[in-house]
Amino acid sequence: MQIVIHPTARGAAEAVAWFLADCLYEDPGLVLGLPTGRTPVAMYRELVRLHRRGRADFSRATTFNLDEFVGVAPDHPGSYRQFMTRHLFADVNLDPTQTHVPNGDAPSPRAEAARYDAEIAAAGGLDIAVVGIGANGHIGFNEPARTLPSHTSVVRLKPSSRRSNAKSFGGSTRRVPARAISMGMGTILSARHVILLATGSEKAEIVRKALNGPITTMVPASLLQGHPKALVVLDRAAARRLTS
Ligand code: GLP
Repeated sequence: MQIVIHPTARGAAEAVAWFLADCLYEDPGLVLGLPTGRTPVAMYRELVRLHRRGRADFSRATTFNLDEFVGVAPDHPGSYRQFMTRHLFADVNLDPTQTHVPNGDAPSPRAEAARYDAEIAAAGGLDIAVVGIGANGHIGFNEPARTLPSHTSVVRLKPSSRRSNAKSFGGSTRRVPARAISMGMGTILSARHVILLATGSEKAEIVRKALNGPITTMVPASLLQGHPKALVVLDRAAARRLTS
């Protein structure tokens, strides 16, 4: 696992954007796994800027988002589909048919999860999965548990995860759906490269557990320690508790 530490959160996010733009230049047909959350916003901003300067071409790329809330339609302002439209899809030359986010209001969330997984497999799997880390160590919405789903599945959200997503639901934790469809850990770890972007001092303790602690399903991000090509990009604040 390679760990790179940047002085600022913005620097860390931009470094991931530049890395992705370089990878797209080398291989324009990349299949990308993409995260939502506060952390990647600066990364998407930089990708849009690079695209406008002709330095990031998405015309042949395919994207799969990590997760979506169950019961939330793609046009709901709190949906991750809307987040992606706002922060990336509307401003770069991605083919809309090549952008994938689980459909939160599918009649059968379980069938939707299976369909999503099959779609990722049909695309040849992920070349690069960019992931964030939840305060409890979750990746996508794979919450700490004794076992973790391998494939895309319907997962129950921890109260802390619902709380941290309240902003997108009018500030009310109760309005945050209790379930989500999340790409499974197996699907994420099968990506040829995994990039974890984490910034801010509130992530320092969980980053320490994930990178310096034992590999355990109780800290899903710790499973990245076993990935042959994992790149962790941090700012100084998130890295401050690391011991090595
Ligand atoms: C959400 C997402 C995760 C993300 C996490 C951290 O729960 N499902 O994929 O990594 O939040 O978000 P933030 O970057 O806002 O801390």
